[in-house]
Amino acid sequence: MSPMSATDQSVANVAGEPKREALAPRILVADDQPDVREALRILLKAEGYRTEAVANPGAVLSAIETEEFDILLIDLNYARDTTSGREGLDLLSRIQATDSTLPVIVMTAWGTVELAVEAMRRGARDFVQKPWENQRLLSILRTQMELSRALRHSERLEAENRLLRAQGRPTLIAEAASMQPVLQMIARVGPSDANVLITGEHGTGKEVVAQTLHALSPRVSRPMVTVNTGGLPEGIFESEVFGHVKGAFTDAKADRVGRFELAQHGTLFLDEIANVPLSQQAKLLRVLQTGELQRVGSSKTVKVDVRVISATNADLREETAQKRFREDLLFRLNTVEIHLPPMRERREDIPLLAMHFLRIYAQRYRKALNSFDPAAMQALLDHAWPGNVRELDHAIERAVLLARDESIRASDLGLRARSDGMGKGLEEMSLEDVEATLIKKALARYSGNISQAAEALGLSRSALYRRLQKYGL
Ligand SMILES: Nc1ncnc2c1ncn2[C@@H]1O[C@H](COP(=O)(O)OP(=O)(O)OP(=O)(O)O)[C@@H](O)[C@H]1O
Ligand SMILES: [Mg+2]
Repeated sequence: MSPMSATDQSVANVAGEPKREALAPRILVADDQPDVREALRILLKAEGYRTEAVANPGAVLSAIETEEFDILLIDLNYARDTTSGREGLDLLSRIQATDSTLPVIVMTAWGTVELAVEAMRRGARDFVQKPWENQRLLSILRTQMELSRALRHSERLEAENRLLRAQGRPTLIAEAASMQPVLQMIARVGPSDANVLITGEHGTGKEVVAQTLHALSPRVSRPMVTVNTGGLPEGIFESEVFGHVKGAFTDAKADRVGRFELAQHGTLFLDEIANVPLSQQAKLLRVLQTGELQRVGSSKTVKVDVRVISATNADLREETAQKRFREDLLFRLNTVEIHLPPMRERREDIPLLAMHFLRIYAQRYRKALNSFDPAAMQALLDHAWPGNVRELDHAIERAVLLARDESIRASDLGLRARSDGMGKGLEEMSLEDVEATLIKKALARYSGNISQAAEALGLSRSALYRRLQKYGL
């Protein structure tokens, strides 16, 4: 034996001595299977960790309330509900509510990547898939241990503040030729008080444009208040938007200020405007015409000075033709109209957008990632992005969570199937993928004859044309 290896040996012995145990990091393991708990206990002990193991979510919560742990390693599935991971996700939220700085690593069954991603969104620091590789698990534990030491104090607060500030300032990436008219219009009308209607498919960035318009206006020091008109039941819409006074209806226990008044001297963003019930459209129109409103149950008139920006992915002209949307209201809202092209008409922007989201999520999830490898970038460029920028956003978030190297690989993106959804299993496809696939098949079957394909699909010719345009077929 050489003197060198003898020295190594003695260092290892010192490190393993019991007297260092008191300083060893403490790990709480939670899993309903005794053999998993036992295997982890043995593995972690050998690495010098102190381990506590419990079998159910309740025991985790009482343990962290009474004792100190450096890190939690929890399973997502417990006996009561063994596959959905719901119990584990609930547990994660409750741990976060108790101590949001406590690092949690989740264990998921092999192949349940979506569950792991959801856990990360809810604050888990990392995940391991079962059956786990010992070396990988240990390296995750070490990394998280170091990170949490560094972050537990001021650094963490500062990082969050930075993130918050960055979120307040909208980033609008738009280099593609098809986005230039959009940028010009934003620059022209942003600083004015003109009402703007923003149209475009789902996820094309309508809300980002609304924020940018507000940021460019003199109203920037006042709030932009959003009303998601799509999310409000008809009965609630009125009091939510215009406010009410105590006693106006049974549940009105106190006065309530509506969103219009909240946005006083600022901007009101009416999202998904096509969903405003007809009965409320008249009232909305009156407020826009007169700049005055009455809270529900009150006869007092309140003057409001609000700039209105609205957005929709519906075809409002079609809605007015069908008498579902008031034409006079449309004319009030669309003093200026900004139409956002879908992703498939601004493919040049994909690399920039992808890098933008990569930076955001690498920072949020504390990963040292700064590029896409060439195959990954190609996969991004090839994909059809029926869900537009939002789909790209989510794809990159997921890839950042899954990436194990310094750059994102094509396999991290989960876009392995062809962009049109062909070749994917039905369960993995979005509704739009399925629709596009069926349309392609019908066209192929009838050699491109639109009338026949439309008939086979049970669509009118014009409905099929609209879809061909939508999917860029
Ligand atoms: N041009 C852009 N530059 C940077 N980020 C963008 C851009 N467009 C959209 N995003 C981002 O993509 C996501 C979706 O955008 P947004 O919510 O504005 O879309 P939307 O048109 O309002 O969607 P929906 O119709 O579903 O409400 C957001 O995270 C947004 O920040
Ligand atoms: Mg939106």
